[in-house]
Amino acid sequence: PVETAGQRSPQFIDFGEYEIETWYSSPLPFEYSKLSKLYFCEYCLKYMKSKEAMLRHQSKCFLRQPPANEIYRHKNISLFEVDGAKNKLYCRNLCLLAKMFLDHKTLYYDVEPFLFYVLTLNDNYGSHLVGYFSKEKNCVRNYNLSCIMTLPHTQRQGYGKLLIDFSYVLSKLEGKPGTPEKPLSDLGLISYRSYWRNKILSYVAGHMNDQILITDISKSTGILAEDLVLALHDLQILDYDEKCNDFCVKIDEQLLKKQIDRSTKSKHHIINEDALIWSPMV
Ligand code: COA
Ligand code: NA
Repeated sequence: PVETAGQRSPQFIDFGEYEIETWYSSPLPFEYSKLSKLYFCEYCLKYMKSKEAMLRHQSKCFLRQPPANEIYRHKNISLFEVDGAKNKLYCRNLCLLAKMFLDHKTLYYDVEPFLFYVLTLNDNYGSHLVGYFSKEKNCVRNYNLSCIMTLPHTQRQGYGKLLIDFSYVLSKLEGKPGTPEKPLSDLGLISYRSYWRNKILSYVAGHMNDQILITDISKSTGILAEDLVLALHDLQILDYDEKCNDFCVKIDEQLLKKQIDRSTKSKHHIINEDALIWSPMV
């Protein structure tokens, strides 16, 4: 699902050590919209027209991480919480960057009502952007994630599911189950389905001899019941308990063992919840 090179602006971006080919166009200001390549500062996300401008910028920009609170650090992975109202330019540039890998319209300018959770990999030079998800601050619905993106060179290594996991860990701390805003892209849906399956199966593996109701899984994972029904159906383990008036896991040991085996092959990172310093906004 990629726009052809001639239609895309930009076609490439320089980002830290990487030259990245974009997938879709981004609505850049006019003077940038005809360039085939843009040069990003990987830390402050300012974009420039030339390598020279980028090098001049680098000699003045002292940022080595997102301009916000680090709310999680474990091993070489960090998560930062960036407030759209406090760091508008950074968040707008992050949205423009995300649009380069997103087919549908997304927000760019109205960033104030959102928080941006930015995942980085850290080394001696700084905290390098992997991806992010955005979240509406005062969401009246159950949405716990608005948009998610990982940069192409970091994809398929489990970081998308790690970001999704953070969105649910935050929901659990808020004391209410959550769900991603719709519509999801194809890759978004693939990632969620994989995440939901893995979470369900790891719960099931720990409760093999119990009756497992959807309500139990929802409490333990922060995943909304409707999404769990879909995922259990995917796994062919959806059942209904008349007595409890709730969906439940079908007990078929052989099938469950097969599914659990499959899910352990899914690349993933585990959150160390002790390393998360965060409480819900009031
Ligand atoms: N083709 C097929 N499957 C893919 C895939 C691809 N190109 N990319 C990822 N997957 C699968 C992975 O195999 C994994 O499933 P598994 O664990 O069952 O093997 C699952 O999707 C998640 O992979 P993971 O590595 O955790 O995620 P990621 O870092 O690749 O990020 C997205 C997933 C959606 C964030 C990323 O693809 C992206 O940024 N896409 C562009 C923006 C977008 O569409 N965002 C969602 C809508 S808001
Ligand atoms: Na990844």
